[in-house]
Parts: sequence; structure tokens; C-alpha cells
Amino acid sequence: MPRPALRLQELHGENAPVAEPTRGSRRFWLKAFAAVRAETERRAAPLSTEDQVVQSMPEASPAKWHRAHVTWFFEQFLLRPFTPSYRTFDERFAFLFNSYYVAAGPRQARPQRGLITRPGVAETASYRAHVDAAVAALIETTANGEAVFPIVEIGVHHEQQHQELMLTDILHAFAQNATHPVYDANWQWPESVSGASTEAGDTLVAGIHMIGHDGQSFSFDNERPAHQVLLQPVRLSRALVTNGEWLEFMADGGYTTSGLWLSDGWATVEAQGWEAPGYWRHVDGAWFTMTLGGLRAVDPALPVCHVSYYEADAFARWAGKHLPSEAEWEVAAKAEALDDAFGTVWQWMRSAYSPYPGYVAEEGALGEYNGKFMINQMVLRGSSLATPAGHSRHTYRNFFYPSARWQFSGLRLAEFER
Ligand SMILES: [Fe+2]
Repeated sequence: MPRPALRLQELHGENAPVAEPTRGSRRFWLKAFAAVRAETERRAAPLSTEDQVVQSMPEASPAKWHRAHVTWFFEQFLLRPFTPSYRTFDERFAFLFNSYYVAAGPRQARPQRGLITRPGVAETASYRAHVDAAVAALIETTANGEAVFPIVEIGVHHEQQHQELMLTDILHAFAQNATHPVYDANWQWPESVSGASTEAGDTLVAGIHMIGHDGQSFSFDNERPAHQVLLQPVRLSRALVTNGEWLEFMADGGYTTSGLWLSDGWATVEAQGWEAPGYWRHVDGAWFTMTLGGLRAVDPALPVCHVSYYEADAFARWAGKHLPSEAEWEVAAKAEALDDAFGTVWQWMRSAYSPYPGYVAEEGALGEYNGKFMINQMVLRGSSLATPAGHSRHTYRNFFYPSARWQFSGLRLAEFER
């Protein structure tokens, strides 16, 4: 697979001793940009041309589309405004690869991204290389770093979000295939990581705390402003809910007892015929699940994954507990009181995805990034096994519709003090 022009690797080689560039310098941004572009290609590398075109449901996008869309993002929001001499690779790509930016013009309907057979994979790689070169030249020569580098930064974080989606979306596609395709034969579930808190057992949080991002480093606008919250005394489980616990829920009629479910959740159970988490298959009396390593036996000791908010909420009710709020989670995570807060499964919160007090969306077209989605979705906290390194924060707010379960999503429980 063709790789983008990675200027720093060409200059220095993989193993040459290079001092870490100063944060905010041209070299810092060149390196950050090259690294994230390379990671996207690394994730796409195991995929065939056919793999990269398929769209298995409206919410999932083809890998080729992800690779092109993140490239269009740099072209639209960085090169067009800041490189007057920039030669657009193909004017028609703006229609194909704009996602939801109304201010940036008309676009291909989301459910029809899988119909984009042209440009092909090779031309998409050329598009990426063209934009890579132009962005690198801009970083090297701009006299307006104050305006340019923040857009490079949001473009890098945006591409990292799509890196995760590339994996969740291809897993959904592979899960529709009865031959159980394998993305990575060596894939393994992440090792469990203990929180560093010395407090034994589940941690009690209570009182007035600050949550949200202080703006001293990168954050998305939806994490701001930092603000005070008042927490009622509540204990957050150190551990994620496991497959073994989920099997108990199933055996106890979890999926057949309407009283455990929100009305919308129960309607979804009935409409979708849910009887187990997403990708679970019952084969010869045993449960298996589709993973990036193909079909694997469900391990009772591992965290449950690919459950929706509706399922997480029903499980918590069955257990006589609750899901944490995002404020409770953030306070406990900052105290390092949660095992596997990051890097395993996103954790559903009982918090609706809504603006923080005083929230103001970014100015301009990038104001469409987060704010307009603050309705009818629920928050997930932490990060997952598919989240790229360096993309997680205590204040990070992910969000999905309550029926979504193709993300690497699980849960932990909370119990209020009586
Ligand atoms: Fe995007």
C-alpha cells in the first residue's frame, strides 16, 4: 500500500537519535502530523481494496472514506484558508468526503458512502500524499503559526477519532460475514490496568468538585468550560462489568424481562431481537464473539463489550445499582480510583450529552464539530482498545445514540450511599 510522504522519517530515519522537538515548534507539528498520518495508513494496511469500500450500515463508513475524509478536513480547514497557492487535488472530492459540515457545502449522503467506488484506493493514497506534502510545506513556511498550528492540532485529533472508527466500522462489516474475517490474527484483549489509588475497594466520591477541561492544553470545545459540580455520596466500582456477570444477567432473564428496561430500550430489544451483546454468537451451546482477531470464545473474566446504553442501563437496574454520571466518573478517574478507566472499553454514563454551563461552540465552520450533536445522545467516558495512543483524557466526552453498540462500549456500576 502506498504510504504518505513522511518528511521527518525521510530526514532522520526511524532509529536516528533525534531530540524531542519543543512543543508548539514547527518540528513538533511536523512530527505530530506525520505520526498521525502514518498511523491511519498502518491501520488500513491489513485491509484489502474490497474491505476498504464496504459500508455495512448507515452509521459505519468505509475505510477508504475515512482515509479520504480526514484528508479533506486538512484541505478544507487548513490549506484553503492558509495556503493561497494550494492546488486542490480534485474539486469533486469535497462533495464525496465532507461529512456533516453544512457550512462547507453539499455532500454525499452518509448511508451512501459505500457507493463511492471512485476514487479508488490508489487514487485515495495519492490524494493523501498530495495533502501531506502541502500541509508539511505550510507548517515549515507559515508566518502565521498562531492561527495555523491550532488547526493542525484539531486535524490531528480529528484523524485520531477516525482511526478508532476505522476499526469499529470494519469489525461491524466483518461481523456480517459468516467466514469471520480476521483483521489481525495476533490481536489480543488488552491487559487489565489497576488504578493507582491506595484506597481499597470501590471509591466513594462526594461533595463539590471541578470537572471539565481548564484549557491549558488541547481539548475539544465540548469539554469546556471547567465548572463546579455537586456530587451526592456514591461509590464507583473499581472494575468494569465482565462477560461472566453479563452471562448471569442473561441467565436471569435480562433480555426477556421488560421491567428492567427503559421503554425505548425494550422497543429496541424487540425490534432487533437482542438476546446478547453485539457480535455474540451461540455455537454448539457456547458463546463466541466477533473480535478484531476473528471469532473467539467469550471469556467470562474479560470486560463485556459491544453493549448499548439501553443494555447497560438494564444491567445496572438488574444489579440494583446505577450507571455513574460523567461528573462522578471524572472525579473518580482523576483520583486514579478506577481500574481500566482507559484503553479497554468506553464506559456508558447515565449523563445525557448536553452542553456544560457556559458552553460556546468554536467560531466558524469548525463550530459544527460538536455542539450541534448535543441532543438525544448519551456520554461515554474513558477510551477503548481502539483509541489511538495520546488521544485519551480525563475530561474527554465521547457520545453515541443509546442504541449504538458497534463501538467498543461497556460499563462499570455506581452505588449511592444510603
Ligand atoms: Fe470527521
